Amino acid sequence: MKTKKQYNRLLFIFIPTVMIFLTVFVWGLGLFTDIEEEPYVSGETDRIVVGVSQLGSESGWRTANTESVQSVFTNENGYFLLFSNARQKQENQIKAIRSFISQRVDYIVFAPVVENGWRTVLQEAKEAGIPVIMMDRKVEAADQELCVSWVGTDSRQEGVKAGRWLEGHLRDKGVTGEETVNIVVLTGTEGASSAIGRSEGFREVARDHANWKILEEKCADFTSAKGKEVMEGFLRKYPEIDVVVSQNDDMTFGAIEAIQEAGRTVGVHGEISIISFDAVHDALEMVAAGTINVDIECNPNQGGYLSQVISMLEKGQEVEKDYYVEEDVFTIDNVTEEVLRERNY
Ligand code: AHR
Repeated sequence: MKTKKQYNRLLFIFIPTVMIFLTVFVWGLGLFTDIEEEPYVSGETDRIVVGVSQLGSESGWRTANTESVQSVFTNENGYFLLFSNARQKQENQIKAIRSFISQRVDYIVFAPVVENGWRTVLQEAKEAGIPVIMMDRKVEAADQELCVSWVGTDSRQEGVKAGRWLEGHLRDKGVTGEETVNIVVLTGTEGASSAIGRSEGFREVARDHANWKILEEKCADFTSAKGKEVMEGFLRKYPEIDVVVSQNDDMTFGAIEAIQEAGRTVGVHGEISIISFDAVHDALEMVAAGTINVDIECNPNQGGYLSQVISMLEKGQEVEKDYYVEEDVFTIDNVTEEVLRERNY
């Protein structure tokens, strides 16, 4: 027979154990489904219901892109937003899109993490009569006919801009076509249209310069931690690096840390020139300080364009296949106090 004291002790152990188990279980469910949605009951609102599948939250840029979408698709603006974060996994995006279809949303907006593998689910959306709009990145060319429109940035052109900047920079430094320029490239998520476009655009310019030697291109997933790791590897492998092309600011932050920890210098007065992409606030501060040589802007403010496309579709108007957001190129010469003040991401 157990005494009252023994029962109390058992309860003391049992209740917290069950509570810990339940917490881990519920958290685990969230982890495996990777979908965060507001509750929504089909047909219960006269607002425009938009299902947004964001690919993740890997960078400062992505956070700004999410905020841009969430600030536009609000109740006050006549929308009901179902938002899902896929945490970099295509399977989670497919799951989210299927869930939007079964909830019979009015529109689906999604930022495809990679280009390939969307045909089946896009076909399902089409059969359900739900227009799909891509944002930021694109699906492969053959599947774009299954989407009504796209809002985003011209990543190939961004790569070209990086190459053109390097041409001018080397010219200004008096580097002749006889001198080898050693370049390493940190690329974004493998298979992502923005990474593919930036690589292609930069290579297009590099092809005209026999003295530009791309030592290696390596994926660092658009994250700071990976950027640092990949850059450390480059520094061990290649003693002479003149230029780092880093396909987003987060990877650049990591890469610069690695370079400085290795005792090397970067930027306008340093040994290694840094070319970055995105132009988020912290990176622009580094441009102003001469740490990053150039930042090719990738504009995350796409929510306004998306809502314009939807309101045109609501009125039965024709929409363009592609809408490009505006983008600039930043160097120490044009990052003014005003630019920094206005950059809120
Ligand atoms: O697709 C756009 C890229 O994705 C941005 O450059 C990067 O920061 C983001 O994660």
